[in-house]
Order: sequence, then C-alpha cells, then structure tokens
Amino acid sequence: PVIYAITPTFTRPVQKAELTRLSQTFLLVPNFHWIVVEDSPKKTPLVTNFLAQSGLRYTHINAPTPSNYKLGKHDPNWKKPRGVEQRNAALRWIRSNLNESNNGVIFFADDDNTYSRHLFKEVAKVKRVGVWPVGLVGGLMVERPICDKATGKVTGFNAVWKPDRPFPIDMAGFGINLQVILEKKTALFAYDIQSGFQESEILKQVTTRDELEGLADGCTKVYVWHTRTQAPVLNTETILNKKGKSSNDGIEV
Ligand code: UGA
Ligand code: MN
Repeated sequence: PVIYAITPTFTRPVQKAELTRLSQTFLLVPNFHWIVVEDSPKKTPLVTNFLAQSGLRYTHINAPTPSNYKLGKHDPNWKKPRGVEQRNAALRWIRSNLNESNNGVIFFADDDNTYSRHLFKEVAKVKRVGVWPVGLVGGLMVERPICDKATGKVTGFNAVWKPDRPFPIDMAGFGINLQVILEKKTALFAYDIQSGFQESEILKQVTTRDELEGLADGCTKVYVWHTRTQAPVLNTETILNKKGKSSNDGIEV
C-alpha cells in the first residue's frame, strides 16, 4: 500500500527544522506520499520551496484555522484543538482524489513528533484500523494498547490521562486503511469536543475497540515518540528587529 501521511503545519521559527527532520525520515520509507497542510490563508514560499526540493512524493494544500478556533499568543496549547481544519482538508482531498482502486493507509503525522523508519512497516500492515504504542505521551514513558501477541486483538489500554476516552491513544498511535476512509465518507475531526478527544472523535466514526488491529509486535515496540520542540529564545533577534535589522536578511532559516 501507499502510506499517506497527513501533516498539519504552521509558520513559526522552528518550522523548517521540523519539516527537515520529518522529510529525511520519510525519504527512507518506500511507497510514501506526504500530504502537507498549511494552517495559513495561502501556501507559503517556505513550504512550497521546501517540498519541491524534498525528493518526496507530496500534495501541498492550505487550510487556515478559523480565527475563533485559533490559539491566542499566550494561550496554553491545550485550550483549543490543533490540526482540525488541516486534517479535515486532507481527508477531503483523499476522498475526492482517490478511489476503491487505490491501495493505501492513512496516518496522521504531526510535524513535531519523532518517527522511526520502522514504524512504516507497521502502518503498511493496517487492514482496517491498526494501533501501536506511542512514547513520551499522556504523562507516561509509553502509552499503548494492551494486545494479545498471537492474534493482535486489543484487550485494553494502559492510559492514565483521561482513561475514559473511547480510544485513549495519541494521534500518532493509529493508522486507517484508505478503503475505510472512503467507506465512512463523513468521518471527520471536530472542534467542539473535550480537549484530548480528537483521536476518539475520528476513531469512533470508523471503528470499534474490538475491531482494532494491534501492531508493532503485539503493541510492545515503540516506533514513534510524541516529542515537542521547545520554542527557541530569540530575544536578541527581537532587539535587532526593533532597530530595523535582522540576522537572517535574505536568508531562509
Ligand atoms: C496532541 C496530539 O498529539 C495532536 O495530534 C492533537 O491535535 C492535539 O494534542 C490536540 O488535542 O489538538 P500536541 O503536541 O499538543 O498534540 O499538538 P501540536 O503538535 O501542537 O499540534 C498538532 C499539529 O497541528 C502539528 O502538526 C502542528 O504543526 C499543527 N498546528 C498546531 C497547526 O497546524 N496550527 C496551529 O496553530 C498549531
Ligand atoms: Mn505535537
């Protein structure tokens, strides 16, 4: 199958570094198609040029988050859901550009996580909806489904953070076969739901707990980490900018 990885992304100082890290892992993955969705009213030159030189097969779209759902400058990031508009735009693109003759698996690849190339062998195995462990999330070293090693059946989850979620796993912890996305035509992410429930929102529309396929060696291997990049301190740059100067005049960082 082709792995369709959906990545929402937005302009900030670390954006090019994040996309560079991701793209260089993705180059190691056979049959990979990157769907990059910018949270912006227009496609930016930075992302446009970045993708053109990436060496990857890709689709570049943009879908701005409506202003009433956008995080304020000083809001903690759990206040509003992130990536909703962008992932939905990608799902719409998939539904209007792919059909039953395409063999694929959809995976949601946020731009700040860390992916092992070995993850994608698991993603490629997804028949309907597959799940696997995610490192460094939910306050744990690993948040994971509890699986029967022989059958891959999921018997429970180890989540401690909001364990009452219908599917207590992170966005990076599951893949959905393209045929399922095409069958469940209306399945999308949503804004007005409890924080931390985005994963459950999409999953409950496409599957049930007992249908899940536990992958990554019976959910015992960690191939993806929910890392988060610290915002860089740019205080000296800010002082320069106030004097009408900048360290990166004509240089894309
Ligand atoms: C956790 C999950 O890992 C996310 O998949 C989920 O969307 C999020 O919670 C949520 O509940 O909304 P977290 O690390 O807090 O993730 O989220 P971010 O990594 O900050 O954002 C997820 C994706 O949305 C990233 O690819 C990011 O680049 C993108 N994003 C973020 C935007 O496109 N626009 C923004 O304004 C902020
Ligand atoms: Mn993140």
